[in-house]
Amino acid sequence: VTPGSNGSPRILLTGSGGQVGWELVRTLAPLGALSPFDRRSLDLTDLDNLKATVRSAAPDVIVNAAAYTQVDLAETESDAAHRINADAPGALARAAADSGAIFVHYSTDYVFDGSAGQPYTETDRVSPANAYGRSKAAGDEAVLASGADAYLFRVSWVYGNRGRNFLRTIRRLAAERDQLTVVADQYGSPTWSRQIAEATASALAQILSARRERRALPATGVYNMAAGDYTSWHGFAQAIVDSAASPGRTVSVLPIAGADYPTAARRPVSSRLDVTRLAREFGITLPSWREQLALCLASDALAP
Ligand SMILES: NC(=O)c1ccc[n+]([C@@H]2O[C@H](COP(=O)([O-])OP(=O)(O)OC[C@H]3O[C@@H](n4cnc5c(N)ncnc54)[C@H](OP(=O)(O)O)[C@@H]3O)[C@@H](O)[C@H]2O)c1
Repeated sequence: VTPGSNGSPRILLTGSGGQVGWELVRTLAPLGALSPFDRRSLDLTDLDNLKATVRSAAPDVIVNAAAYTQVDLAETESDAAHRINADAPGALARAAADSGAIFVHYSTDYVFDGSAGQPYTETDRVSPANAYGRSKAAGDEAVLASGADAYLFRVSWVYGNRGRNFLRTIRRLAAERDQLTVVADQYGSPTWSRQIAEATASALAQILSARRERRALPATGVYNMAAGDYTSWHGFAQAIVDSAASPGRTVSVLPIAGADYPTAARRPVSSRLDVTRLAREFGITLPSWREQLALCLASDALAP
């Protein structure tokens, strides 16, 4: 970690090669001396090395964007998922607590089974329906128990221009096929990775100013971070296909039931998140999912 000059905070970022991590490298840069680590430079499964790296870096802020995110594979690799999603965040958060660093972490809508019938708030009890959700819920618990000034941003249905995600899969399939079948009875809020990184930077700027000015920090704990509206996987796929429409070619997107698309991991029926706490405490409201998609799709076009 490069020492922060003029008292600028030292920020250690893990998972810098991931969807959210890659964007965070750009949005956190103005906030301090940023040291990004990807999986090759910092493997979260090596807890001794993890602790030693944090000790020698002496960061003022740790942002953990690394995670085991392969939802179906986690059913057969639950030990690996637990090590990366629960043991490592717990160790990082305890290291942050010991040194007085702020800890930023990401949780998931998949800590819920989706049966609530209304948007989940931060105080709702978790009830994961799959191994990935259980590993993330255990991570949340370990972070909250660490004693660190910890901020857990709970995000959902993350996509972007890079990495493995639904947007890129649908765009590829729509280029290859005339017809797609997509699950229409599971609901959530698709969220662009850049919106998450920008909202994180905005929240962190507020936390750091409070600390610099010796004011009380914004309340710690879990914050849902998603658009206030939602759709189904089918609705999301239809919007993606519409955006890529070319003259003389139609791709139909047929709705199917989740029951007709068996996957190793069970998915929540509805994992909508109530986003009022983030707006109240930080004044941050993410654009609607359609606006986010439009912004994302426009972002990789070259300016004229
Ligand atoms: N993706 C979603 O739909 C979604 C939904 C809700 C919540 N979240 C949460 O949002 C956060 C960011 O996720 P994301 O979408 O950016 O995921 P992502 O694109 O899969 O990025 C995660 C990063 O962590 C790295 N990683 C995996 N194992 C590691 C290890 N042992 N040591 C160090 N790094 C490791 C991955 O490297 P490799 O690529 O080399 O494996 C990847 O670069 C995570 O906490 C995730 O649980 C994601």
